[in-house]
Amino acid sequence: MEHVQDLSTMREKINTVRKQGKSIGFVPTMGFLHEGHISLIRAARAQNDYVVVSIFVNPLQFGKGEDYTEYPRDLENDSRLAESAGCDLIFSPAVRDLYPPGYATYVEVLSSVTQGLCGASRSGHFRGVTTVLVKLFNLVKPDRTYFGQKDAQQCLVVKKMLDDLNYNIQFNIMPTVREADGLAMSSRNKYLTPRQRVAASVLYRSLQQVELLIRGGERNGAILKENVRRLITAVPETEIDYIEIMEVDGLKPVEQVKNNCLVALAVKFGSTRLIDNIILEV
Ligand code: PAJ
Repeated sequence: MEHVQDLSTMREKINTVRKQGKSIGFVPTMGFLHEGHISLIRAARAQNDYVVVSIFVNPLQFGKGEDYTEYPRDLENDSRLAESAGCDLIFSPAVRDLYPPGYATYVEVLSSVTQGLCGASRSGHFRGVTTVLVKLFNLVKPDRTYFGQKDAQQCLVVKKMLDDLNYNIQFNIMPTVREADGLAMSSRNKYLTPRQRVAASVLYRSLQQVELLIRGGERNGAILKENVRRLITAVPETEIDYIEIMEVDGLKPVEQVKNNCLVALAVKFGSTRLIDNIILEV
């Protein structure tokens, strides 16, 4: 496995791979890899001749007071994990190379998909995500890219951007990988105290409760959300950011569940904000 930091080396490398007629699978990450990331790398390995994983903690997608400086980093362990999952090249550019002094170009999806959920509670977040991804896609020139359903709204935003900007990149969404108690794997789980870690299993339990209620015939969005609110507030050290039930297409809130919907949660455990979601077929 190779490790490239420099942008021009990356361009040369990709040109060579393309000239060899190889297909390129790309998994963008912010590192501190876990089984969720690994599942994406394995999927890329299975479908492509050449697999690139980027590791870049993107300052642009963190708001003021968020965890950019504390975000966990462990390039050595990431390299080991990525290689054993079948990665051919890790690309970990420096911040000063992707955003040199005077950098002034931003890519933003302006539609209902960026308005609610994390778009509402993390101002500028998706603009940071789409801006860095356009740059990474331009450098890596992948045929296929792999994202996790864990970040369902991110998937919708990136898919919209790829369509709107006429990228010819196949977009693949892989299922959320969870711990034994249902907690979605996340680099941020590392911040949790042992007590908060136990508490955090309420996220998936709440999502399962909504599924059970919907299967039992409850279709009223307000009642469904109230059930989740009660479950979460009963757990110590929690602060709800949002509990939403949205249409999967267009991501608008639903009052009565009629079609397939996205049930999405963002909850703080102490100062650690975690998100999770499920898509329910109705
Ligand atoms: P990061 O949080 O490192 O996640 C990288 C990819 O791994 C994303 O597509 C995310 O949805 C996926 N992922 C994370 N946890 C997962 C889990 N438990 N199961 C399955 N997939 C999971 O998302 C980002 O980085 C950044 O916003 C990025 C796209 C790299 C742009 O900076």
